Amino acid sequence: MPDAIFAHPRLAPVYDAFDGDRDDLDAYLAIADELDARVVLDVGCGTGNLALLLARHGRTVVGVDPAEASLDVARAKDGADRVRWIHGDATTLPPLRADLAVMTGNVAQVFVTDDDWERTLRGVHGALRPGGHLVFETRRPERRAWEEWADTAPVLRDVPGVGPVEQRLQVTAVDLPLVSFRHTYRFLRDGTVLTSDSTLRFRDRDEIEASLNATRSVERHGCLGALLTPVAFHSMPSTPVGGTVWVLQRHRARRPRRRGASEVESPSARGSRAVG
Ligand SMILES: C[S@@+](CC[C@H](N)C(=O)[O-])C[C@H]1O[C@@H](n2cnc3c(N)ncnc32)[C@H](O)[C@@H]1O
Repeated sequence: MPDAIFAHPRLAPVYDAFDGDRDDLDAYLAIADELDARVVLDVGCGTGNLALLLARHGRTVVGVDPAEASLDVARAKDGADRVRWIHGDATTLPPLRADLAVMTGNVAQVFVTDDDWERTLRGVHGALRPGGHLVFETRRPERRAWEEWADTAPVLRDVPGVGPVEQRLQVTAVDLPLVSFRHTYRFLRDGTVLTSDSTLRFRDRDEIEASLNATRSVERHGCLGALLTPVAFHSMPSTPVGGTVWVLQRHRARRPRRRGASEVESPSARGSRAVG
């Protein structure tokens, strides 16, 4: 169940107004270029900013999100008909054979249980072509972003078609690795007050690596491997999330090789590219 800030029909339309200018999204466009990704899946696409940017740059884009109200905002934007919007999550996708899947903003941190995170990784794996990549961003717990949030002053924005809206942010619990917070919105035109409660999980690098290892399974050729393997990290301190961008790769399909049925490749022989 997505938070009200994404799913409520009065809150989703004001989300973008409080979300800054999103200059972080150009980095994902550059990554899509670098990986030569033609078909891109945006998991947790929200109000569609990245999906639309990628579509404008000639990518075939699928955006999936469980918050229908956010998808409605996305569908109303210019160029929205170039994107295929799916109401759901990574576990409910049709076969896509995407070159690249992305999770931007807080998306990788909304999965607070190990089970939800693992099911999401498995879902993304199923949506990627062999050799395809998953790129996502996470905040570093050691930066203690929630301490800055606790000091945030109320913000007033004049939202087109809605009027002035005030947003307040309160941190309601810090129980690491979980941090909970509440957004309160006051719609000045009619005095309506709405709140949205959220919890994010701050996974450090070790925890993410362990979670990837938890997806190890025995494949048809008898090899034990994680579904997605880290191939690079990028540090993005200036983005809203201000964290680490992970680049994972689904391993490539193997050509059938002539060898005895009992001969299997050892995990160490499989190798992954060096993590940068
Ligand atoms: C902070 S917003 C980020 C939206 C967008 N990626 C961006 O960068 O603007 C987090 C998004 O994650 C979505 N979300 C929540 N639970 C999800 C789930 N289980 N699977 C996929 N997306 C989810 C929310 O609905 C919301 O749109």
